[in-house]
Amino acid sequence: MREQDGLTRVQLQHGDTAWLVTRYDEVRAALSDPRISADITNPRLPVAVHGRPTFARMDDPDHARLRRVFTSAFTVKNVNLMRRAIETVVDRTLTAFAGGRNPADLMRGYALPIPSQVICLILGVPYEDHQFFEEHSATLFDQGLPADRKQAALTALYTYTHRLLTDRLTAPSPGLIGQQAVLIARGELDLDEAAVSTMALLVAGHETTSSMIALSTLVLLQHPDQLARLRDSDDPTVVARAVEELLRYITIAETAAVRVATDDVEIGGHLVRKDEGLMMCLPSANRDGKFAGADDLDLGRDARGHVAFGFGVHQCLGQNLARLELQIALPVLLRRLPGLKLAVPLEELRMRLGILSVDELPVTW
Ligand code: HEM
Repeated sequence: MREQDGLTRVQLQHGDTAWLVTRYDEVRAALSDPRISADITNPRLPVAVHGRPTFARMDDPDHARLRRVFTSAFTVKNVNLMRRAIETVVDRTLTAFAGGRNPADLMRGYALPIPSQVICLILGVPYEDHQFFEEHSATLFDQGLPADRKQAALTALYTYTHRLLTDRLTAPSPGLIGQQAVLIARGELDLDEAAVSTMALLVAGHETTSSMIALSTLVLLQHPDQLARLRDSDDPTVVARAVEELLRYITIAETAAVRVATDDVEIGGHLVRKDEGLMMCLPSANRDGKFAGADDLDLGRDARGHVAFGFGVHQCLGQNLARLELQIALPVLLRRLPGLKLAVPLEELRMRLGILSVDELPVTW
């Protein structure tokens, strides 16, 4: 499709018709155009469930007002202050995984617990509840599941974060939940909006990074020469480059960036009419001609400028955190388990679409 045209009319799984935007320049043009909206209260936005809006699915100024509550927590500087805490989580998780049963599921044993524990620390969510929120988050992101299951998962998660915030309105408590509780008590933040934002951060904070840890490992096992480059280097620049390339090459957020035009807009030589939906095909944009030999994994390339975290005002809030978690979790896994390999044939893995992931990643070492 991308070779023929930058925009193609497609029918989506849940019935909507939308423009699929496949080229790098067109994706960036659409994502930075103020006439292209992310507003989920617009019935024309091509999504399966029109649930309660998170700031990810609002337009400015509301989007900016709510995002601002969290921006300082996710700057490079503040995320780097968490390095020690993340290293401790990774070390503890890897020690338990390596000392446990062999073969084992890398997803449940390593890829998922790391970002889950980290986002719990940041938010102040009790990690004991991880099974509850991990299961519901996976339901939300699994494109293969029906809309009523997703709606039920959304309601359960919203009720959960609403209760956490309500419980903490009167006593000081740690993390971003505690900070929001203070703002709510002062009348500067709305409780419902805070519950939705917290839910979005909890879900996005672990589901995406866990997929990237698992799929990066899978892809590296299929590219042993590239795996060796990452395993054998302790140069932070080399590791950072490698992670950037893995983000580009895998691009897990396949269908996350959906929009609707609020006016007639020309993109890539096409007239996108008011009320027409758009879906950015980020994996395709990241394999566009902007990156030479884009279909090859090359951990030495400069992959900066990729759109795996989106582009424009909605560009991923948690990207610095995700990068740091990957930079810490991947090399240490490859070094401590040098004999790591898949424990089942590749074809037996069940891929999850939407946010690209695997249900399980059975490995042996
Ligand atoms: C490798 C991991 C991750 C990937 C690939 C990823 C990808 C993305 C993408 C593509 C978007 C833009 C969606 C759009 O334009 O509609 C986005 C937005 C967002 N992400 Fe991430 N993400 C990751 C990790 C995280 C983490 C760890 C957090 C939280 C701590 C997070 C929180 C968010 C939030 C809150 C938004 C909405 C931002 C806004 O609308 O202003 N993400 N992410």
